[in-house]
Amino acid sequence: MTSGLQIKDEDCGFNKNLFCVPKHYEDDLERVFIPHGLILDRTERLARDIMQDMGNHPIFALCVLKGGYKFFADLMDHIKALNRNTDQSVPITVDFVRTKSYCNDVPNGMVSIIGEELSAFKGKNILVVEDIIDTGKTIQALLSKIKEYEPQMVKVVSLLVKRTIRSSGYKPDYTGFEIPDKFVVGYALDYNEYFRDLNHICILNEKAKEKYKL
Ligand code: HPA
Ligand code: MG
Repeated sequence: MTSGLQIKDEDCGFNKNLFCVPKHYEDDLERVFIPHGLILDRTERLARDIMQDMGNHPIFALCVLKGGYKFFADLMDHIKALNRNTDQSVPITVDFVRTKSYCNDVPNGMVSIIGEELSAFKGKNILVVEDIIDTGKTIQALLSKIKEYEPQMVKVVSLLVKRTIRSSGYKPDYTGFEIPDKFVVGYALDYNEYFRDLNHICILNEKAKEKYKL
């Protein structure tokens, strides 16, 4: 278990005018926090670390929607490249579950899990792929649900882990970036369903939080 690439509390990212962002979000963003290229480079290394640990056991990759879909797709692409270009050969199957725990930029205290045939988990080596671990409650609820179905092994990879006093203390097996306690969007992470169609992980300005508030 490593804590990933550490982004310090005082780190405020990059001027958005130095990057390409969609016109429809230009006025909503405060800063580019993690550029898309850096996300992909870190994901490439996570794929290598995961493959090293998995040996040749088939992986049942479980994408946690909706926020995990970009990271999942890019991580799977890197794992597939290792399968093509190295001696390692690990069959991958994929499945999807959906969780929801945020309204505006605050946790709503509930975790809903909308799932597929969870009985397919029995005896499998499961890799849960998450976008972000914030309080840890969503992933812990999901893990206890998965474990009811007796998988052989469960590992969790999360692109982001937030340093927050609200944390339950849960840490994933693999972490992309450890970030300060800021609300972030982009690369499939949303604010009330907006900003998933933004490549970079960004910080919103206060006006945008008001504009897209429910
Ligand atoms: N952004 C988007 N979704 C989230 C976050 C966040 O910072 N934390 C938990 N869910
Ligand atoms: Mg998530």
